[in-house]
Amino acid sequence: MYMALLEARHATKLYSTEGEPVTALQDVSLNVEAGEFIALVGRSGCGKSTLLNLCGAMDFPTSGEIAIDGQITSGLNDAELTRMRREKVGFIFQSFQLMNTLSAIENVELPLMLARAPNARAAAAERLRWVEMEEYAGRLPHQLSGGQQQRVAIARALVHSPRVLLADEPTGNLDTATGDLVLHLLRKSAHEFGVAILMATHSGESTTVTDRVVKMRDGRVDC
Ligand SMILES: Nc1ncnc2c1ncn2[C@@H]1O[C@H](COP(=O)(O)OP(=O)(O)O)[C@@H](O)[C@H]1O
Ligand SMILES: [Mg+2]
Repeated sequence: MYMALLEARHATKLYSTEGEPVTALQDVSLNVEAGEFIALVGRSGCGKSTLLNLCGAMDFPTSGEIAIDGQITSGLNDAELTRMRREKVGFIFQSFQLMNTLSAIENVELPLMLARAPNARAAAAERLRWVEMEEYAGRLPHQLSGGQQQRVAIARALVHSPRVLLADEPTGNLDTATGDLVLHLLRKSAHEFGVAILMATHSGESTTVTDRVVKMRDGRVDC
């Protein structure tokens, strides 16, 4: 039985590049509950992004299992996977990854348009308001500061009310004050919407804002 919204069970990931196998993850077990905000801390190359990709069903473990809201990712077909990613998972990146030809509100609306959800514009406007960016709705990404772009990216990641939010070094391109604001928004989304958040970071900055810190080293989780 999977009770947590996100669960890694003995997840191992091997990459083979030019015949040389790399063990990116080794027997990682981890639970994230609804409303929990976890920081995944460790040096560059320790496997944080690999774990987030597995937890977002963007990739699959070589052995072990990942369950998102009770569904084991490696057991799903393509249509089920697409649906799971669209409905259950949100992603935030260090480099924001907004579409640069779309306005702020169009960026937030995009996941709903792709899912053919009704009332996309109204839902996007509401999420932009939630991140206090409604007055910038018509701006293009290059007309926004880094912190403002990340707030738009958070609105986009939350617009479809995902169960799980994966954040890969979301404050890495921001100054400390702006980064703190982003961390507090993530915390608020966990507590207000009950989203399970797993956030990779290579610094210790976030440890006072998160509910729990999980340390990674050489593909393993230190418990
Ligand atoms: N697609 C890939 N192919 C081969 N090796 C990879 C790939 N992605 C990551 N790795 C390797 O896996 C290890 C973990 O990488 P990563 O998960 O990106 O770490 P982190 O996000 O903590 O910096 C590193 O040794 C990296 O070089
Ligand atoms: Mg990484």
